[in-house]
Amino acid sequence: MNFKAIAKPLMPDVLFKWYRKKYAHEGIKQFRFNFDATSDVKRDIQEKYGHDSELLELFANNEGVVVHKWHHYIPLYDRYFSSFRGRKIRFLEIGVSKGGSLQMWRKYFGDDAIIFGIDIDPECEKLNGLAGQVRIGSQTDNVFLESVVKEMGGVDIVLDDGSHHMEHIPATLKYLFHHLSYGGIYVIEDLHTAYWKSFGGGYRSKGNFFGFLMDVIDDMHHWYHTNKLKQAAISNECSGIHIYESIVVLEKNKIFKPVHSQVGRIIR
Ligand SMILES: C[S@@+](CC[C@H](N)C(=O)[O-])C[C@H]1O[C@@H](n2cnc3c(N)ncnc32)[C@H](O)[C@@H]1O
Repeated sequence: MNFKAIAKPLMPDVLFKWYRKKYAHEGIKQFRFNFDATSDVKRDIQEKYGHDSELLELFANNEGVVVHKWHHYIPLYDRYFSSFRGRKIRFLEIGVSKGGSLQMWRKYFGDDAIIFGIDIDPECEKLNGLAGQVRIGSQTDNVFLESVVKEMGGVDIVLDDGSHHMEHIPATLKYLFHHLSYGGIYVIEDLHTAYWKSFGGGYRSKGNFFGFLMDVIDDMHHWYHTNKLKQAAISNECSGIHIYESIVVLEKNKIFKPVHSQVGRIIR
C-alpha cells in the first residue's frame, strides 16, 4: 500500500500524523539491513544464526537478478529443503517478482528439479524459462493453480511468497495442500503481515493466519477432545506445523491414530 499517496490528500494534517503513528509498524523499511564497511549479508547470517551453507553462498553472493529474502529465512530454508536437493522434485514458488529466487532455487536444487513460479504480474512472463517455468495468474484462482500443478506433474514443495494477504494465504493453502505429495512441505513466509490491517490481519484479529493455524492445531489433537474438525482439508493430512518468526512450515503425511506402548523390564 502506498499509504502516503492514498491517505495524505484525504486527511487533515493532524489526523494524518495520528494515523501514521498508529500504523508505523506496518512496513518493512525499518528492518532493512544496513550495509557498511564492516558488515555484509553473509557474515550477518553466519554470526547471528551460526549458519553456513551453499544456500547462504548463493543468496549472499548473488550476482544475477534480484532475490529478496529476510536473513533468518536462509537457515530455515536450508533445514527444510536440503533433503530435496539433487532430486527430481517439483517446487512451486508463489511470487516471482524480479526472478532472483527462482534462479537461486535452480542452483540449489539442481538441474533435475522441476521449478515453477507463479505471479499475478504479467511483467514476470519475461522470466519464463530463465531458471524455471513462470506462469501468470493469481494464487486465488483454483483453476489456474490446478493447471500449473498438472503441468508440473504434482508438487512436493510449495513456497508461498505471493500476496501475503490474509484472505489469500489460507485459500491457496487449502487448495494446494491437497495436491502436495506425501512427505512434501508447504512453506508460507512474510507472515508479519498477519499483524497488519493493510493485509487483512491484526493482533489477534479474526483474519490473522495464526488463528487459522490454531484451528489446525486443535484438529491435529482431535483424538483428545469432542469438537468438530475446523480445517479438515489441512488437518486430515498435516503431520506437523513448525512456526518461526514470520515463516511457517506445514508437513504433509498420512495420519494414524496415535498409540502408545510400555517396552522393557520393570525393576522390583
Ligand atoms: C515478495 S514478491 C516475491 C519475491 C520473490 N519470491 C523473491 O524472493 O525475490 C511478491 C510477488 O507476489 C506477486 N503477487 C501478489 N499478489 C499475487 C497473487 N494474488 N497471485 C500471485 N502472485 C501475486 C507480486 O506480483 C510480487 O511479484
